Amino acid sequence: MTRIVAIANQKGGVGKTTTAINLAASLALADQRILLVDVDPQANLTSGVGQKGRASAAGTIYDALTAPDAIVDARPYILATTVDRMDLIPADRNLTGAEIELVALSRREERLRTLLGSVRGAYDYIFVDCPPSLGLLTLNALVAADAVLIPLHCEYFALEGLADLVGTLKRVRAAYNPALDIEGVLLTMFDERTNLGQQVATDVRGFFKEKVFRTVIPRNVRLGEAPSHGMPVILYDVKSRGAEAYLALAREVLARSAATAA
Ligand SMILES: Nc1ncnc2c1ncn2[C@@H]1O[C@H](COP(=O)(O)OP(=O)(O)O)[C@@H](O)[C@H]1O
Ligand SMILES: [Mg+2]
Repeated sequence: MTRIVAIANQKGGVGKTTTAINLAASLALADQRILLVDVDPQANLTSGVGQKGRASAAGTIYDALTAPDAIVDARPYILATTVDRMDLIPADRNLTGAEIELVALSRREERLRTLLGSVRGAYDYIFVDCPPSLGLLTLNALVAADAVLIPLHCEYFALEGLADLVGTLKRVRAAYNPALDIEGVLLTMFDERTNLGQQVATDVRGFFKEKVFRTVIPRNVRLGEAPSHGMPVILYDVKSRGAEAYLALAREVLARSAATAA
């Protein structure tokens, strides 16, 4: 059974892309088949896995989403990455125009769902890395997804704006995707030396309860460095705290999924 997970938070810099790359690579290491889908025009996911500027003959996610007739087969758009069992549908700057171009297209909110429907069954997890907005690209991701994973930067304004995201999830459930679940809320860039980090973590757990992953991602320079080398942190420095944290997150995701299945 394929699980499609949108990684979303309309704030930038909260760890969405870092989580997409490193959770995906950690799950791939645990024998899971993974597809990464970059729907952010900044294409940080694409460059973070070393595929900047690359695309198949069919093109990028931009071409797949904005064709006049909805594309029903994702396979021509998929690239292999340097990580075994981890594939990618890349993005590039063209995607900036998609928010506007999509408006004129039929079933514009369902383009990604239609596309990914063709590879359900071929992967264990599909992660969709969203842009920092609640526009049509993020909407496509939420409509396509089985669940949303919400990274939260442990800082003072972490919970600010979350009401907008929760409201969007409600509207998506009501209009397009009643089964949309919360995969989990992930505390990122945690600095245990500050009281603020602890306080934010406590507040977030009070609000989202058991939806918050037990695993917390610490602030770790290796996580910041790895993407400039085009590799996940488990390949860049497997002994770093950042690598350990994402490996632990992958175990938690698998354990949750096993518990749900049982
Ligand atoms: N746990 C972390 N420790 C240190 N740096 C991090 C961590 N997580 C992300 N970063 C860095 O912070 C910046 C923003 O993270 P990113 O994952 O790109 O956020 P988003 O996709 O939500 O905009 C990037 O430069 C990234 O490398
Ligand atoms: Mg990003």
